[in-house]
Amino acid sequence: MRGFLIIGNEAFTEPFNLSDLPGAGRIDVLCRCISQALFLSHSIRKGVEVYLLLLGEPDPPKVMRIKSDELRRMSPDERNVAGHIRKAVGFKISKDWVETNSGIFVARKNLNELLIELSKNYEIYYMREDGKDIRDVVTTMKNPLFILGDHLGVKKREEDLILGFIKSTISVSKFSLMAEQCIAIANYELDRAEIF
Ligand SMILES: C[S@@+](CC[C@H](N)C(=O)[O-])C[C@H]1O[C@@H](n2cnc3c(N)ncnc32)[C@H](O)[C@@H]1O
Repeated sequence: MRGFLIIGNEAFTEPFNLSDLPGAGRIDVLCRCISQALFLSHSIRKGVEVYLLLLGEPDPPKVMRIKSDELRRMSPDERNVAGHIRKAVGFKISKDWVETNSGIFVARKNLNELLIELSKNYEIYYMREDGKDIRDVVTTMKNPLFILGDHLGVKKREEDLILGFIKSTISVSKFSLMAEQCIAIANYELDRAEIF
């Protein structure tokens, strides 16, 4: 198992215009993260979960979960992925996960509640430029889940909470990369070390 949690600081929490994903609180960034996390060429990775924490207006917080092993009818293009997010944020939700499409779930959880749930199944790592080099620790990882910010990064309030749950911070480059690039590199390093 491996997982990714991306924080959508301004990602809309109601159905949005599919022709303006950047204008929907940078849903385009989240879509690219999902594609990089889940898709191989012409197939879907096994044993990957992607979580999105949606913190934008008008109804935050909402959390989405995508389970690669159960996923159907998603293709890697942004518009298709965005259509699934759009559908999920339109559902009536509660604290319990509701399935909105095969392999896609939505719930009302704040970051603290989500991290408590995730820490039962995952070792949690926080991706930050100044973290430990992934190559120094990747072989020790077991069921890792990586937390990343979107184009705005991770705000101090969320970061303070995250630091209480993590095994360590992880860096994949000396440069500040886009979130989707970090996910592609993490997948590459985990594949290379045969951590599945
Ligand atoms: C576009 S970056 C955020 C940039 C934002 N301006 C900031 O200063 O945080 C998106 C996310 O990718 C991750 N990230 C970026 N560069 C990284 C690196 N070199 N190593 C690990 N994670 C990185 C971090 O989680 C970051 O929040």
